[in-house]
Amino acid sequence: MENTTNEKPSIKRIGVLTSGGDAPGMNAAVRAVVRTALSLDMECVGIRRGWQGLINADFTMLTRESVSHIMTSGGTVLYTARSDEFMQVAGRRKAAATCRMLGIDAIVAIGGDGTFKGAHALSREGVPVVGIPATIDNDVDCSNYTIGFDTACNTAVDCIDRLRDTMRAHERCSVVEVMGRNAGYLALYVGLAAGATAVLVPEHKYDFQKDVVERIQDSRLAGNAHFMLVVAEGAGSAVEIGKRIYDAIGIEPRVTVLGHIQRGGSPTARDRETATRMGYTAVRALNEGRINRIIATQDGCIVEIPIEEAMKMKKRLQHDRYRIMQTMQLGGMKGAVQFD
Ligand code: F6P
Repeated sequence: MENTTNEKPSIKRIGVLTSGGDAPGMNAAVRAVVRTALSLDMECVGIRRGWQGLINADFTMLTRESVSHIMTSGGTVLYTARSDEFMQVAGRRKAAATCRMLGIDAIVAIGGDGTFKGAHALSREGVPVVGIPATIDNDVDCSNYTIGFDTACNTAVDCIDRLRDTMRAHERCSVVEVMGRNAGYLALYVGLAAGATAVLVPEHKYDFQKDVVERIQDSRLAGNAHFMLVVAEGAGSAVEIGKRIYDAIGIEPRVTVLGHIQRGGSPTARDRETATRMGYTAVRALNEGRINRIIATQDGCIVEIPIEEAMKMKKRLQHDRYRIMQTMQLGGMKGAVQFD
């Protein structure tokens, strides 16, 4: 049942969970939630294995000590899962019943868009929620930034720098597939930072001849003998793109799918700092009776957005980055770069 009164709910015990794909910095967010809650005389229940864990009442009480030294590690100490059962009303009702049984007054859900859809649906069962965006994909519409993105970008760039050393030595072409699900934020950022020959993202419809073959040919004419293509997983398979390059121009690319390596590792300072501020803000909001919010970053500030509004927001890929990347490749070559 939705809360239709204007009364501020009294929140004394918070449940915190991580859900969906893990992201470096989730642990820092859990730590911040727990420490902030304790500082405000609220209790904190750790729900293990995401929404499925809430259905199954899979929990552990969190103390100041239980979150000591977790900030520096990737993954999530609370484990994570994707739950089909929670996508059904019956599953969410079981989850709401767990909250009542454990005396949990509100849930802090740390994850991406899928996690927030779940949180939104749970709020309709009368459980107050606050969401904290954490995914390496950076594809949460209401927030400029999601925890884990910076670490994943740095990991991918480090891998690409290593690949470049060997590609340069052998004068080869490399095609690297990065994660991102249906979004190109990770690929574009990484491509720009790694000085890629071309980047393919799902948001930018590409023409293979113009955006791949001609980019390689232009780069060759500019004096390069090795080429680096970055492909967002949502834009197609790097293996397929490698085959098409071979068929079109006869060079045999080496294909690397970075895969889950991008999700691991110690979070960067940016991810730890953002996670700490977001965790703090989430609990302060609950403590002050502001429920059903997503904590987001907008223009460098941490903001609270009502979940109804947040779920309707849309963000767009920063196409200026695409333009900048092409300028880096073509600058000084055949005149102006054309964009649609
Ligand atoms: O959402 C994070 C993400 O790593 C995506 O980039 C990727 O498409 C997906 O999760 C992989 O999911 P799984 O870990 O289930 O293979």
